Amino acid sequence: MAPALGLRVHLTAAFCDERLEDVLRLESGEEGALAVLALNTRGKPERPHWSALPSAPPSAEAVSDSGSDAAADTDAHPSDDADDAVGRAPMLLALHRASRLPPERPRLAAAGDLAEGLEARYGWTGGVSLIEDVPARGSSRWPLAHDPFEAILRRRSTRRFQRGQMRRAQLARILAAAYAPENIGLSEQPSLDRSHLMTFIAVLSVEGFEPGVYYLAPHGLEMRLVRPGCAPEAVQYLCLGQELGGDATAVVFHTADLADAVRAFGDRAYRYLHLDAGLLGERLDLAALSEGCGASGIGGFFDDQVTDLLGIPREQAVVYITTLGLPAGSVEE
Ligand SMILES: Cc1cc2nc3c(=O)[nH]c(=O)nc-3n(C[C@H](O)[C@H](O)[C@H](O)COP(=O)(O)O)c2cc1C
Repeated sequence: MAPALGLRVHLTAAFCDERLEDVLRLESGEEGALAVLALNTRGKPERPHWSALPSAPPSAEAVSDSGSDAAADTDAHPSDDADDAVGRAPMLLALHRASRLPPERPRLAAAGDLAEGLEARYGWTGGVSLIEDVPARGSSRWPLAHDPFEAILRRRSTRRFQRGQMRRAQLARILAAAYAPENIGLSEQPSLDRSHLMTFIAVLSVEGFEPGVYYLAPHGLEMRLVRPGCAPEAVQYLCLGQELGGDATAVVFHTADLADAVRAFGDRAYRYLHLDAGLLGERLDLAALSEGCGASGIGGFFDDQVTDLLGIPREQAVVYITTLGLPAGSVEE
């Protein structure tokens, strides 16, 4: 919405919690900020070149404690030491406290080339690029670019899908809007700078696309097959039995290698990942709607069974799911 109003927007979870709580007069320990949205008029490049900072110098133990085994174990509880550090707080509060940024700005974590990492990871099979299906920038075939306001005002989460096929070009445009918004003339969008978020897509019913589970390499919108075939029942089951999962045409899994993310950003990584997943989910929602399709976020899913049922690599933890499909009643059956 901000770009449509001629404003620049910077969305971040990298702020000193204590100072912000002081400014906002929040009762530390009872209330806290999750994200900051800085609005500014267009002009000088005032966007900071850092957008994610580590909450604590990542230690070897922090990394191994947060490794994939621990992440996959939903029964895992913080160690006694961690409990001592945060008091005997409920898990969510403990996480919020453990991931605070200190008053002095921490040193930027070594970045590595994250963009390159997203392209190269899971590159064991050649992929199908959807770039060819995406119209050139400024094309009249970009429904969302025409009137983003209208899409924002009309947007609702789809409550029920009907089964049917989505076109491959629609899927391509929806993904391009989320992963390369500037390419479709959506003006400047909040960035996912230094994001560790990865994307797997369960294709259930997309014309011209074999059903299967794919890794999405975002730069070239390249879909790399991870596992051929995908049963709607399996996806529905993973979504706690919600029909939105089984009736969708494609289901986007926003995932992260938590050990990698914690190595870079300490426990603060959990906040950045969720913020980025929310941003991507919102763009997917808006793009789906402007294509005449529907979308719904799914936060209720069985974390532990994603690998066995879909073949998503074990080190990847699911952060959020976006279902895409045909809204009930939108197509003659
Ligand atoms: C983080 C998140 C998780 C959600 N999880 C589910 C879910 O598991 N099942 C579901 O039916 N809807 C889910 N939704 C959709 C919400 O129910 C929906 O956004 C909410 O009812 C508000 O409606 P609106 O999006 O049309 O404004 C989720 C939405 C968000 C943002």
